[in-house]
Amino acid sequence: MTWQKVVGVKAIENAGGHLSAKVGDNIIFFTKNKEGLQAMNAVCSHAKCILGEYDEEKNQVKCPCHHAVFDLGNGNMIKPPSVAPNSPMEKLGLKKFNVRENQGFIEAEI
Ligand code: FES
Repeated sequence: MTWQKVVGVKAIENAGGHLSAKVGDNIIFFTKNKEGLQAMNAVCSHAKCILGEYDEEKNQVKCPCHHAVFDLGNGNMIKPPSVAPNSPMEKLGLKKFNVRENQGFIEAEI
């Protein structure tokens, strides 16, 4: 695994504290908030929509397709898709990535 430069820190701040970016073969959802800098797979584990309804206060992101909710702190699904309410949420968590700031840039370990 290597650290890959993603975007300048100012870009995530100017985007309201969150953005999605393609890094290698991954699309990653980055956030910078009171929890610090976080990075999680941005592709929903249900039917592969791109996550994007960010709730900074709860540190969660909701899938726009069927409203599954994921915890940005650990990647766990905390609310199942509305069309599949009995989904095994413990199996549908999303991968977290190590992330850091380095010389004004956000870097992810891929
Ligand atoms: S694709 Fe995300 S909840 Fe269905």
